[in-house]
Amino acid sequence: MTDRYAVFGNPVEQSKSPTIHAAFAAQTGQTMTYSKQLVALDGFSEAAEAFFAAGGKGLNITVPFKQEAYSFAARLTARARHAGAVNTLALQDDGTILGDNTDGVGMVQDLLENLGWQIRGKKVLVLGAGGAVRGVLEPLLEQLPQHVVIANRTIDKALQLAKGFAEMGYLLGCGFDMLEGQQFDLVINGTSASLAGEVPPLPNDLLTADGHCYDLMYAAQPTPFLVWARQHGARAVSDGLGMLVEQAAESFKLWRGVKPETKLVISELRDNLT
Ligand code: ATR
Repeated sequence: MTDRYAVFGNPVEQSKSPTIHAAFAAQTGQTMTYSKQLVALDGFSEAAEAFFAAGGKGLNITVPFKQEAYSFAARLTARARHAGAVNTLALQDDGTILGDNTDGVGMVQDLLENLGWQIRGKKVLVLGAGGAVRGVLEPLLEQLPQHVVIANRTIDKALQLAKGFAEMGYLLGCGFDMLEGQQFDLVINGTSASLAGEVPPLPNDLLTADGHCYDLMYAAQPTPFLVWARQHGARAVSDGLGMLVEQAAESFKLWRGVKPETKLVISELRDNLT
């Protein structure tokens, strides 16, 4: 039987994962199928159990099931444990299900390899303190930035998150109003403010002369945050399309043991964004 993979989400219609994994499979000569499955909001573990019982080899997990996937996995990688969320489930040889989180490593890979930006020694600001930010903090801190400030609308969530990762590096939580007078080399937007067409309230002189801005979200048009970044002197900006492909490549490697090339896949997706 052909090895089967899928992405579980709700909604899932918009997912580009089937396109990405089909490109990876063709490129690496792997025989596999990858589909998308709309899962009922209260039906995650039932659907995941049925998928693996029917011989499925691995799943990607998207909104809103990443925390449930975390509980579903029998074993977790260290980065998934830190993130408190799982975006990849993989059937192991012993029949158990391993949970991993490849979002953060995907972002770091995109920043370092595709964009050629630096993180080491840089002053980094992360906007937001929800699930998306949780998922990327550990791989970000592993790159040894000078410090990371987490700013969030609800200050308490930023403080809690900073506390949770405190042993990994110099990390501070704060509200947006406390950013006044501070400057950053790299600002990463992990809020969902763009969905409402909004940008968090940021001071005008937030960026250093070499300031870079990255949005975890992607869209055919620049996100509101990236428009703000351009208007406020960012040296370079990028959305998270590369991260999407890189996190998929890490999942593919976990499942198939080979790491696909990503650059062509990213540019093809970019050309077809609507
Ligand atoms: P996700 O899984 O995408 O991270 P989430 O866990 O709901 O989703 O987190 C959304 C994040 O975007 C939060 O940090 C949220 O701020 P609050 O914790 O104060 O709710 C942030 N956010 C959403 N809309 C925002 C807006 N209009 N301005 C600023 N921050 C916003």
